[in-house]
Amino acid sequence: MKSNFFITFEGGEGAGKSTQAKLLSAFLEKEGYPCVLTREPGGSSGAEEIRNLVVKGDVAKWDAMTEALLMFAARRDHLVKTVWPALKEGKTVICDRFADSTMAYQGFGYADNGLGQATVERLYQIVVGDFKPDLTIILDMPVEAGVARALQRDANVNRYEKMGLDFHRNLRKAFLEIEKKEPGRCVVVNADRTIEEISADIISVVQSRLLKA
Ligand code: TMP
Repeated sequence: MKSNFFITFEGGEGAGKSTQAKLLSAFLEKEGYPCVLTREPGGSSGAEEIRNLVVKGDVAKWDAMTEALLMFAARRDHLVKTVWPALKEGKTVICDRFADSTMAYQGFGYADNGLGQATVERLYQIVVGDFKPDLTIILDMPVEAGVARALQRDANVNRYEKMGLDFHRNLRKAFLEIEKKEPGRCVVVNADRTIEEISADIISVVQSRLLKA
């Protein structure tokens, strides 16, 4: 029985990814799947250092390419130090954000200045190769509500939460496009509901797509 799944959570700000990642990890552990819960950017000590560079400071601190390179540097360290070793040990890895966030934020969030799909895909191929998540849950909700929730929650508002609503609308569109392109890997879940309703949907997707597959 396969036990080493790589599951990623994606979506805009304030969609509840961290909460849902924790709930899924608890469910899988109870079912006998040892899990590693991690996040990007971050999840290894080097990648956490890079995280500080990108989430703090002025909105205009980095251009999209510099930022994407930092994200991919953090990703590489996280994969090498945390994700791949855990999968090799037979653990399931649940990751709060992964490369679809680079596609959405650095690829399309900045609209005219974004890198676009082909460039982000090239960087992915160089840094990550053919490795991909087994399943990606995209938490979708109206932009205004998500951003308001994120601003309310965070004492230290991060760089991305300070970006305008147009930026966040581009993100939402980009995540929905990603699901259309890769429906075999991605599932969009309506995140504008109670925590329990969202979690029940996610668990049923994981059961049908991974555990009973
Ligand atoms: P978090 O808010 O989910 O903790 O993530 C930190 C921020 O990093 C979030 O606002 C989105 C951003 N981000 C990118 O811009 N590109 C990426 O590739 C990743 C993983 C995150």
